[in-house]
Amino acid sequence: MSIVRVVVGISGASGAALGVRITERLAAMPGVETHLVVSDAARRTLDLECPPGALARLETLVHRHHPNGDIGASIASGSFPVRGMIVAPCSMQTLSAIATGRADTLLTRAADVQMKERRRLVLLARETPLHLGHLRNMCAVTEMGAIVMPPVPAFYHRPQSVAEIVDHLAARAIDIMAFAPAPLAESWTGTDEAG
Ligand SMILES: Cc1cc2nc3c(=O)[nH]c(=O)nc-3n(C[C@H](O)[C@H](O)[C@H](O)COP(=O)(O)O)c2cc1C
Repeated sequence: MSIVRVVVGISGASGAALGVRITERLAAMPGVETHLVVSDAARRTLDLECPPGALARLETLVHRHHPNGDIGASIASGSFPVRGMIVAPCSMQTLSAIATGRADTLLTRAADVQMKERRRLVLLARETPLHLGHLRNMCAVTEMGAIVMPPVPAFYHRPQSVAEIVDHLAARAIDIMAFAPAPLAESWTGTDEAG
């Protein structure tokens, strides 16, 4: 079986559970090798927002957890074949770094690599409300080929819990990477009117 490598970056916006759930889902997919990189601020949001030991548990699920300061790691090079990267959640600071090519951490360098190699880069950018600089950074990364996917919940599947909302968003983010044989996220099948 061929291996698909995916990088997951967790930055310090609210919604650390999104990164956790995406990593869990990828870990459960046969043939997927997950590389994790977590910013310093995300260590804090993981501690604040998730059950104790969340990061330690993720480390047991992934192929490799790279220190964010290790700019010599495999995922810092375009010669290391990966399908793409999901940054979940993506803070406005990380978005700004990606938009301006400031690749001074492994997370932002790996994101930069995805764009220069024309690979998928999905950014679950989370802030509200947004000022013009945030919006301009979203335009800039979109122009460079990234996909901005703010973690805005869907309600058509009638979620019963926050966990269901997070899971649906995680599935959508992985679906956008477009390597799974079938969509993970429950899809809208339409409400065809009789007539
Ligand atoms: C509890 C908490 C929640 C935060 N939520 C957000 C957020 O939703 N969006 C955002 O852009 N920054 C948020 N921040 C601020 C970022 O963590 C901060 O800008 C940090 O420098 C981002 O660093 P990073 O991009 O390297 O992870 C939050 C910080 C904390 C402590």
